[in-house]
Amino acid sequence: MWSIPVILSLLIAPLSPVAAKGHQKSCVIKSGGSNVTDDAPAILKAFKDCGQNGRIVFEPKTYYVNSVMNISWLENVDIDVRGTLLWSNDIPYWLNNSMDVGYQNQSTALIIGGNNVRINGYEKGTFDGNGDYWYQWISEQPNTSNYPGRPHGVTFDKLTNSVIRSLTFLRSQMWYVRNRILVSKTPPCGLCLLTANLQRTMSTINSHNVLLDSILVNNTGNWAQSSNTDGADTIRSSHIAFNNWTVYNGDDSLSMKANSTDITITNCKFYDGLGIAMGSIGQYNDQFETIERITVENVEYDNTLHAVSDRRDTDTI
Ligand SMILES: *[C@@H]1O[C@H](CO)[C@@H](O)[C@H](O)[C@H]1NC(C)=O
Ligand SMILES: *[C@@H]1O[C@H](CO)[C@@H](O)[C@H](O)[C@H]1NC(C)=O
Ligand SMILES: *[C@@H]1O[C@H](CO)[C@@H](O)[C@H](O)[C@H]1NC(C)=O
Ligand SMILES: *[C@@H]1O[C@H](CO)[C@@H](O)[C@H](O)[C@H]1NC(C)=O
Ligand SMILES: *[C@@H]1O[C@H](CO)[C@@H](O)[C@H](O)[C@H]1NC(C)=O
Ligand SMILES: *[C@@H]1O[C@H](CO)[C@@H](O)[C@H](O)[C@H]1NC(C)=O
Ligand SMILES: *[C@@H]1O[C@H](CO)[C@@H](O)[C@H](O)[C@H]1NC(C)=O
Ligand SMILES: *[C@@H]1O[C@H](CO)[C@@H](O)[C@H](O)[C@H]1NC(C)=O
Repeated sequence: MWSIPVILSLLIAPLSPVAAKGHQKSCVIKSGGSNVTDDAPAILKAFKDCGQNGRIVFEPKTYYVNSVMNISWLENVDIDVRGTLLWSNDIPYWLNNSMDVGYQNQSTALIIGGNNVRINGYEKGTFDGNGDYWYQWISEQPNTSNYPGRPHGVTFDKLTNSVIRSLTFLRSQMWYVRNRILVSKTPPCGLCLLTANLQRTMSTINSHNVLLDSILVNNTGNWAQSSNTDGADTIRSSHIAFNNWTVYNGDDSLSMKANSTDITITNCKFYDGLGIAMGSIGQYNDQFETIERITVENVEYDNTLHAVSDRRDTDTI
């Protein structure tokens, strides 16, 4: 006799994107070994050769990423990240070349999109944005606000039926400052005026049915102060599950933005941030945006300002 949970999981199984089909090909990416060599061309080649019905392996080494990557064609692929991807500190290059994400003039260093994509970091895989250089640089700018071209670490764009697990995201690049009115339903903030610096580690845009599981985000600077940072944002996305996240940062731990629906956040720990934000909607006149069906369960906050806040921007600089 099958118990009800077994029957339920059998019913759910066809919808869950975990079952790997037979792999025809496998690409193991070689690292050039120093930041003098840009590993992006080798990485792109592997994704072209093995990004459909294949397996892509990053070895336990450091890969140096000195240029943008728009990887949009994935289909039924396993991506094993056993090493570190380290983005270069060539700020003028990134400001000129980071890719537009189609939302609020924001841009990104890496786009990953496709269907049935399984990324596993096996608790070792790391995306390192080399953010200290950015934190230092922005602190020297006369106007630190919304600097055009400053990239998000990674944007999952048009990613469907996918699982991303056991990865670490360190010190991502994006950081900008805005003034905003924060309307909170939970104490201590009834209506507070905040000046916040945001840093985007990751965003999901136009993505559906994606599980992001066992993720560590640490945006604490090594030698430069990153005061405030976002863990992850969702934009125009549905059925996104965040499970077992640990986020060290100073701004929104997770943030649901325009047209985010059916988002679940479970078993997460947020340190030093603002907690979960529903927000930045209503910034533009004549635009209809919704945030619906957000479920939050078993989330711990340590030194976060709010648990869940409902935010409407009324002013941006
Ligand atoms: C390459 O690494 C060296 C040593 O860490 C560093 O000084 C240099 O700025 C790096 N260059 C880039 C483009 O990341
Ligand atoms: C950035 O673009 C400007 C204007 O097109 C150009 O003068 C500059 O050389 C570029 N810098 C880099 C690092 O690509
Ligand atoms: C990324 O590549 C896809 C497919 O070629 C293209 O449609 C999209 O516009 C590209 N995105 C950017 C920001 O260049
Ligand atoms: C985006 O850039 C355009 C042109 O530079 C500007 O008119 C617009 O106000 C910007 N939007 C935002 C949200 O910053
Ligand atoms: C700050 O600089 C950025 C980039 O030059 C610009 O888009 C923004 O409008 C400026 N903000 C203010 C308040 O001057
Ligand atoms: C949760 O994620 C952490 C990594 O951040 C990992 O060490 C731990 O094993 C995960 N817990 C479960 C129950 O998967
Ligand atoms: C986060 O990064 C900072 C700076 O490297 C480090 O001191 C701290 O131990 C890290 N925290 C975790 C939980 O890895
Ligand atoms: C949100 O969805 C509505 C209705 O489909 C659409 O009119 C609006 O442009 C969307 N907003 C964004 C930011 O995509």
